[in-house]
Amino acid sequence: MTRETTPLTLTPVGRTVGPKTTYDAPADLPAARPDGRRLLSDRYGRVARDLRVSLTDRCNLRCTYCMPAEGLEWLPTEATLDDDEMIRLITVAVEKLGIRQIRFTGGEPLLRKSLEKIISATKELTTDEGGRVTTAMTTNGMGLARRARKLADAGLDRVNISLDTIDAELYARLTRRDRLQDAIAAIDAAIEAGLTPVKVNAVVMPGINEHAITDLARFTIGRGAQLRFIEQMPLGPRDKWDRSRMITAQDILDELATEFDMTPAAAPRGSAPAALWDVVDATGTGLRGQIGVIASVSHPFCGNCDRSRLTTDGAVRNCLFSSADSETSLRDLMRAGATDDELAEAWAGTMWLKKPGHGIDDEGFLQPDRPMSAIGG
Ligand code: 5AD
Ligand code: SF4
Repeated sequence: MTRETTPLTLTPVGRTVGPKTTYDAPADLPAARPDGRRLLSDRYGRVARDLRVSLTDRCNLRCTYCMPAEGLEWLPTEATLDDDEMIRLITVAVEKLGIRQIRFTGGEPLLRKSLEKIISATKELTTDEGGRVTTAMTTNGMGLARRARKLADAGLDRVNISLDTIDAELYARLTRRDRLQDAIAAIDAAIEAGLTPVKVNAVVMPGINEHAITDLARFTIGRGAQLRFIEQMPLGPRDKWDRSRMITAQDILDELATEFDMTPAAAPRGSAPAALWDVVDATGTGLRGQIGVIASVSHPFCGNCDRSRLTTDGAVRNCLFSSADSETSLRDLMRAGATDDELAEAWAGTMWLKKPGHGIDDEGFLQPDRPMSAIGG
């Protein structure tokens, strides 16, 4: 597909810059191997093996902690990567940069019509271990029930479905859409299609769902899904996050312990952010399952982070919380004619400068300029 390469405005959200035609790698960036391959390592010894690809900045829900009711100013189509560009960058990540796992995010990734095509193209690639890329998706589940089988056939391995409450009225208030049943149908359909283990993500918010976490736990375990509670991070509208009121992982565990017997799960944590617990319902239902708690703020796992991120407008980010000036627009380089090796070097150089941690608890912490929906979870 051909594209106009006239100077682009709006790169990324709200900033005006022309296309960048060259990239200056940091002087101490390790050289690529003779075959052009290299790893996405950084100065602290971490290696990124997991890529998060945001397929759109748009969403069909309006969760209050994420978006205003009227939505956000969406990226214009010409600023976003088309399928060929997206697949080219994914190919570079897997075949030149050692990426082994890819998670598709948004916005809402199901809004990308070519999702199946992008997944099957990803599944055709060979990793540096000689195997296939593990593919996952983080979704709100709207419309997943109809599409789960097709996605599994395209090569999707598993899904995380966002569900913060099983109270229909609260769900409608939180997401500003009355669609709890679609989210539940999505969980069932994902299990049915074998997109397992199906993980349910719940952000715990003060005064909103903090007292309903045992209900959510019983519900998800009963349906055969794994639940992961997430500490709310400072990423959405600025008035929705207050460190002093934040519900911490410890608060979540204390609340769960009122109704569940809990033992730390045997599996090692590694670079996975969730601390896993084997739980048994102590209220007499006999239910047992696994629950994860992700303490992104109170116990950051940045030291073990193995992630790189690609935004829907083709920028590499080395951290969820990095600032816009540390992003590199691979889109601009690509549209200016960069080769795969040049793209790989720009990607590696951006990851090389990854900071040791997100610093949410530091004085002077600044929220990222891009909203969560434009970065991907
Ligand atoms: N803090 C933690 N998790 C968040 N998510 C969205 N905003 C935040 C936040 N501020 C979650 C969504 C979804 C995933 C994409 O990220 O609930 O599960
Ligand atoms: Fe990784 Fe940044 Fe998230 Fe820490 S905050 S886990 S470094 S992406």
